[in-house]
Amino acid sequence: MRAVVRRRYGGPERLEVADVHEPVPGAGEVVVRVATSAVNAADAFMLRGEPRIARAAFGIGRPSQPVLGRDIAGTVTAVGEGVTDLALGDRIHGESDAAWAEFAVLPAQAAARIPRGIDLVQAAALPLPGVTAMQALRMGLAGAAASDRDLTPLDGRKVLVTGASGNVGLLAVAIAAAHGARVTGTASTARLGLVQQAGAEHVADRLHPGVDYGVGFDLIVDLTGHRTLADLMTRLAPRGTLVSSTGAGGRTLGPLPRIAAVGARDLATRRHLRVLAARRDGADLAALGRLVRDGRVTPIIDGVMPMSAAADAVRRFEAGQAHGRIILDATRLG
Ligand SMILES: NC(=O)c1ccc[n+]([C@@H]2O[C@H](COP(=O)([O-])OP(=O)(O)OC[C@H]3O[C@@H](n4cnc5c(N)ncnc54)[C@H](OP(=O)(O)O)[C@@H]3O)[C@@H](O)[C@H]2O)c1
Repeated sequence: MRAVVRRRYGGPERLEVADVHEPVPGAGEVVVRVATSAVNAADAFMLRGEPRIARAAFGIGRPSQPVLGRDIAGTVTAVGEGVTDLALGDRIHGESDAAWAEFAVLPAQAAARIPRGIDLVQAAALPLPGVTAMQALRMGLAGAAASDRDLTPLDGRKVLVTGASGNVGLLAVAIAAAHGARVTGTASTARLGLVQQAGAEHVADRLHPGVDYGVGFDLIVDLTGHRTLADLMTRLAPRGTLVSSTGAGGRTLGPLPRIAAVGARDLATRRHLRVLAARRDGADLAALGRLVRDGRVTPIIDGVMPMSAAADAVRRFEAGQAHGRIILDATRLG
């Protein structure tokens, strides 16, 4: 099959379309004929092999997995042993480790059926960032059970999302606003309108010196790690929660220093400081799919590009030019 691969770490120039073996489903997995995918921060990090410490998992000298991409939407073509809730021909979306290809394999529990009325462009916009946003918001609800997908306690809460114009941020704003939260989002000047479109009540221009983000937040979802923890903590309500969910940081250690700082500060305050490690979860994705189906959340799409132009798509993403999700059309992989 055709796939977008890279044999070495580096920039988008490393990406090429090549023939690779079709995946075979293992126990608990399904194979999907990919219709659409999307570009994530994780794809850019994995392309470059950054932070370098992550190469311990992704391949020290060169990437152990040549195919990039995580979000997928498409049709099930093969089902592994033990999979009972998905069948051949089902239209599903979810998160794979190798999505930029004609076929992709993923754990059945990381997938959800695409609700009627949601097209394959919208469906590919949701998995990784949507599930991350759901889990970040839930983590911020004091007292909510880990398995509780009900975000209604967000009603009336004051929520700050930093990096609100990004993939996770736009969905976090939209999901929180759909549940009645009063959301402030930070972004660069050119993308403030997007954050408003997603449902933010207030926006703050991160490029404007001296801009006031506000105070008294019940929940801060920090997606950038660029404000100091001390600054963010002064903006929390006395029993508020800060959820740190950023992969950004230095090129060697990435977010590790920030993660350590969040843990240390949490021990010394009555406020709650948490680090999110999002996990694939088809049930969270299904819950988000219902919000989209019911018109309560609308993913914002930058545009659709041929998957064969994945290098240009990553360039656009890394240059901060995307206004919403960049979708890749896997039927154009020639
Ligand atoms: N915890 C987890 O398990 C998990 C899961 C998924 C993603 N993540 C991480 O969460 C972060 C957000 O992911 P994403 O996919 O939404 O990334 P994204 O689409 O790149 O969004 C990040 C946003 O940060 C803003 N930004 C860029 N440079 C900045 C700076 N110097 N100061 C302040 N803001 C800046 C950008 O918006 P403006 O330029 O408009 O401000 C950008 O839209 C990434 O670091 C990703 O690795 C973590």
